[in-house]
Amino acid sequence: MFTPEMLESIRKVEATRPARMGMEPRRMTAEEKDALLRAYHPDYRTDGFAEIQIGPNKGQKAPTELRNLLHSNSRLLGQDIDLQKIDYDVDVLVIGGGGAGAAAAIEAHEAGSNVMMVTKLRIGDANTMMAEGGIQAADKPGDSPVQHYLDAFGGGHFAARPELLKRLVMEAPDAIQWLNRLGVMFDKDTEGNMITTHGGGTSRKRMHACKDYSGAEIMRTLRDEVLNRKIPVVEFTSAVELIKDDRGQVAGAVLLNMETGDYLVARAKTVILATGGAGRLHYQGFPTSNHYGATADGLILGYRAGVPLLYQDTIQYHPTGVAYPAQIYGALVTEKVRSLGAMLVNVDGEAFMHPLETRDVAAASIIRECTGRHKGVTTPLGSGVWLDTPMMEEIGGPGTIEARIPAMLRMYLNYDIDMRKEPILVYPTLHYQNGGLEINGDGFTKTIDNLLVAGEAVGGIHGRNRLMGNSLLDIIVFGRNAGKAAAAKAKAVDLGTMNLDHIEAYARELDEAGITEPGVSPLLLPRYARHER
Ligand code: FUM
Repeated sequence: MFTPEMLESIRKVEATRPARMGMEPRRMTAEEKDALLRAYHPDYRTDGFAEIQIGPNKGQKAPTELRNLLHSNSRLLGQDIDLQKIDYDVDVLVIGGGGAGAAAAIEAHEAGSNVMMVTKLRIGDANTMMAEGGIQAADKPGDSPVQHYLDAFGGGHFAARPELLKRLVMEAPDAIQWLNRLGVMFDKDTEGNMITTHGGGTSRKRMHACKDYSGAEIMRTLRDEVLNRKIPVVEFTSAVELIKDDRGQVAGAVLLNMETGDYLVARAKTVILATGGAGRLHYQGFPTSNHYGATADGLILGYRAGVPLLYQDTIQYHPTGVAYPAQIYGALVTEKVRSLGAMLVNVDGEAFMHPLETRDVAAASIIRECTGRHKGVTTPLGSGVWLDTPMMEEIGGPGTIEARIPAMLRMYLNYDIDMRKEPILVYPTLHYQNGGLEINGDGFTKTIDNLLVAGEAVGGIHGRNRLMGNSLLDIIVFGRNAGKAAAAKAKAVDLGTMNLDHIEAYARELDEAGITEPGVSPLLLPRYARHER
């Protein structure tokens, strides 16, 4: 149900629609984008960030909520953990139950490794499951991995690590084929060819999708494969600290059984951190499209053990989170809606930007419309702009929405909003951490032997902004590579005596930096969860 003000604005949107059909709003110049980002993107708000005072990134800034977790002690400080009592002993320990973790576990298993997954919720309870719009791969005539590289490199402000981005785009076509063989039901035409669309910042149509639940379909397939292979998955169990040995190499992790509160010791020759993102830290008070478990745990574990972060100060706010109704505030409205023709328009029905600008530019543009130009539509929780969804039916023909974005149609129908007939209200939502732990091309960290990172916990693949569809891609490409590399490396690893010395060293560093009241991290569950542990 819309308010009278919203209904009046909808009439303006409808009145301007015929003139907007067939018109393509102008794209911004590089200078315009730069000025817009500086003025309106949350990454440029100085009050949202704080300086890191200890560890490898000392002197750099991070979102305040993340910085505070980095300025925290281990929950094991002062605890008597018996590292002689080994509960699990494996070649490859995968921490995280999302797409990157599952892809890594499958490949490690394929290579003959004794691999185990541990996850604080259930396998598949992860951001992968919530991804909607698709996965990029340059596998059609007229496209190429080079073109894909150029799009992603420019979209990421030329900051991506070239060796990582090169692997991402070069291995993308094979990633799609791998998923297809495993059973992912990609959208295909009547001839069996994959249907591809544009995303923001793409110069070619290379977005492969499974309607608007691409992530759920990919995660369903990966989870089935893990379970069919009988790879052990320890659920409702969090990794709370990495274990090292007397040579400084990683040697496993201390796990917390979330139900009993018991600590368990997992010894491992190689460890893959695949713990995902940080949306549930709600940087700058933003709502989030992220999964309940997205609390930056892997960043904390890696950093405390000595792995540097890269681009931890750059966050992706998806331009189109739900702004109304309040019950689904912050939920993702896939970019595919704009790929299929829906325009972003303000309270007066004016198109204020090209719908397929890159995400950071689109988010800043919406924030400017709502806060700077006061052309947003008032909602119970703030304001938003319209995404003119009926345009999709006009462009693609009746039934387009039902066929291409059925899950979203149903989500809105639950609240008596029919997006085929009425536009929907959107505002940026915290979606993705562009930064994370630093790795080399195979996924190994540069500072701790035998420790790898895959998925959203990695920094540097996308630079300072990620294009749509490159995250589902990176979890597959870097997940698979990490699994293969970890399995190969494990064959040659000889573990020494295990210890948790880095916990005390970190506590001393905090103390020496004058951080007198450190918290405890990793957080494991959002602050508004019932914390019984
Ligand atoms: O808009 C979306 O469907 C999100 C995709 C992504 O983050 O890659």
